[in-house]
Amino acid sequence: MTTSSKLLPVHKRFDIAFSRGEGVYLFDNDGKKYLDFGAGIAVNALGHCHPKMVKAITKQAKKLWHVSNIYNGNELNNYAEKLTKAASFDLVFFCNSGAESVECAIKMMRRHFYCKNQPQKNRIITFTGAFHGRTIATISAAAKKKYLEGFEPALPGFDNVEFGNIAAVKNAINENTAGILIEPIQGEEGIKVADKKFILELRKICDEKNLLLTFDEVQCGMGRSGYLFAYEFFGVKPDIVATAKAIAGGFPLGACLATKDAASGMTLGVHGTTYGGNPLAMAVADSVLEVILQKNFLENVRKVGEELKTELQNLKKIFPDFIEEIRGVGLMLGMKINQKIENNELVKKFIANGLLAIPAGENVIRIMPPLIITQEHVMEAIEKMQKVFLDSRLRGNDK
Ligand SMILES: Cc1ncc(COP(=O)(O)O)c(C=O)c1O
Repeated sequence: MTTSSKLLPVHKRFDIAFSRGEGVYLFDNDGKKYLDFGAGIAVNALGHCHPKMVKAITKQAKKLWHVSNIYNGNELNNYAEKLTKAASFDLVFFCNSGAESVECAIKMMRRHFYCKNQPQKNRIITFTGAFHGRTIATISAAAKKKYLEGFEPALPGFDNVEFGNIAAVKNAINENTAGILIEPIQGEEGIKVADKKFILELRKICDEKNLLLTFDEVQCGMGRSGYLFAYEFFGVKPDIVATAKAIAGGFPLGACLATKDAASGMTLGVHGTTYGGNPLAMAVADSVLEVILQKNFLENVRKVGEELKTELQNLKKIFPDFIEEIRGVGLMLGMKINQKIENNELVKKFIANGLLAIPAGENVIRIMPPLIITQEHVMEAIEKMQKVFLDSRLRGNDK
């Protein structure tokens, strides 16, 4: 199927279109079945068309889709209470995407100090390799040349330092620093998990220097790490968390969570949104959260994640000519591919064999299945990968 020429050609697309999804499977236009180990880049946490989500959206669609934020909202109030309680934060702002949730966090950090009569504290430390979205502010924060090219001037106010380098962080802090923004498990860069000690140090520095610590958990949040938020995995509580993707399992929604103090500058009229937190989004998100918070759900993500990681490590032993390294936590795993082979080419071969996975930086293939997978799905994926590696070896066409 050719891509419509009417689309702004900014997305690199695989030549495949899906017409239906059910659980952890997708079906293309010809009815061919695929095991979805990409989950729409960590979005479809409950797989496709989960009955609880279908019920929630259908019920809400018959009742009320949208009301403006100039009114109070039943679904909004309900979900805000539930999410903040589950996430252990005081306040939340709902928006429509990951970039918007990070944008809110950036504004919040600056405004916090502005309202404390320290407007000079407006710079934010960010890290190499991070991805925070595609708005001007978020590409400026991540400071990646590839994404900034042609869009400059970048928004000022970010000091980008080496990921994992505590000395560089200390060095970058001055009287203008407001806070630190970190993607603690870098997804787009190829599943790079920050060192726990590094994250702990960041918390310590922020406490000592009176800075705000923000986690971008757009990709690693909402259960993906085996915890509702990855901050629990690190054992470090940030002041602000930006999240999106899995939060409503495929319905566009972002959320910026914060402590009361961190959010103290976000007063009446200083920020806003038209769609953010509308009844439809809230109803779907509520159904997703309810499932994630069910007894043993997250425990099972950690268990099946360990099983998958072990199987991938075994695969690495058998196919060291293909796999260089297995990394990640929970169901956010990465398979670093030998540099002789392009990750993209291998993903195409996976697709041809009915397995979906996501290419990432550093020649990594991201393995991020729906959080509802079982041991059987793990084995099905491993068998498909094994077949691709064996076939490629036989044909000697690793390229
Ligand atoms: C860590 C992280 N932050 C922000 C974003 C941007 O999210 P969105 O594409 O919903 O704007 C992404 C998207 O991949 C992400 O992975």
